[in-house]
Amino acid sequence: MRFYRKFLGGVPEYLARYYWWAYLWRWGIWLFDHQPIINAILFGQYDKLLHNTLAQAKKRPGARLLQLTCVYGKLTPVLLAASDNDVHLCDVATGQLLLARRKTLEVASRCPLARMNAERLAYADDTFDQVIVFFLLHEMPPEARRRTYGEIARVVRAGGSVLLTEYAPLPVRHPLYRFVPFRWLLGRLEPFLPGFWREDVAAELRQALANNGKSLDGEPHVEYCFDGFYRVMRFTINRPD
Ligand SMILES: C[S@@+](CC[C@H](N)C(=O)[O-])C[C@H]1O[C@@H](n2cnc3c(N)ncnc32)[C@H](O)[C@@H]1O
Repeated sequence: MRFYRKFLGGVPEYLARYYWWAYLWRWGIWLFDHQPIINAILFGQYDKLLHNTLAQAKKRPGARLLQLTCVYGKLTPVLLAASDNDVHLCDVATGQLLLARRKTLEVASRCPLARMNAERLAYADDTFDQVIVFFLLHEMPPEARRRTYGEIARVVRAGGSVLLTEYAPLPVRHPLYRFVPFRWLLGRLEPFLPGFWREDVAAELRQALANNGKSLDGEPHVEYCFDGFYRVMRFTINRPD
C-alpha cells in the first residue's frame, strides 16, 4: 500500500510511512491535539510527565532552550510560561509548526520556529543551554536516532543539559507489557519502540558527545513514572576545563 507517499513532501520516509495519520494528515493533527486524547495515549500520565519535565527545564534568566520537534498538548506554551527565556522549536512537518504557532501567538517573539530535520539541524554548534526532547526518539529508526543524538550533542553547549522524556527501558514486569495483545498493538503502532526499549540511551548520548569533544558530567538524573513505563532523564554536559 503506497498511500503514505501522498505525505512524502520533504519529510523523512519513516515519518510519512508510519506516522502520516498522526503527524501529517490534517484531521490527525486536529484530532490528536486534544488534551484528553493525548492524555489517553499516555495512559493518563500526561500531566505527571509534563510536571516532571518542567521541573528539570532550565529557568536561569537568559538560557536558550531548544524544543526538538513539536508535541501535541500544552508542553510548548507551558515551557514558555515557566520563564522569560526563548524556546526555539523546530520540526520537519509544516502542519505541526503551524499548530505550534497557533498555541504561542502571544509569545511568538520568544519562540522562533524553524522547519528542520532533527537529523541535520541548521543551528550552529554549541547554540543551546538545554535541548528538550519529548517522545521523539522512540519514533525514529535506529540510524535516524543515531544522527539525532549526534545533532543534539553538537548544538548543546558545554555546561548545558539534555532533557529527554521517553519510554523507559524494556518494561518486562509492567502489566501492559505482559498483556500480549497490547504489546502486539503497540509494536504495530510504534514500529521502532521495541528497538528503542533495548537501547542504552546514556551510552548513545555519551558517544555522540565524545564525537563532538564533549562529555557527560556524571550519571543522568532519571525519574520514572507509571511504574517504570516512562522516564524523564536530564543529562548534564561537562563544562570545559
Ligand atoms: C515529538 S514526536 C512525538 C510527540 C508525542 N507523540 C506528543 O505529541 O506528545 C512528534 C513530532 O516529531 C516530528 N518529527 C519526527 N521525526 C522528525 C525529524 N526527523 N525531524 C524533525 N521532526 C520530526 C513530527 O513531525 C512530530 O511533530
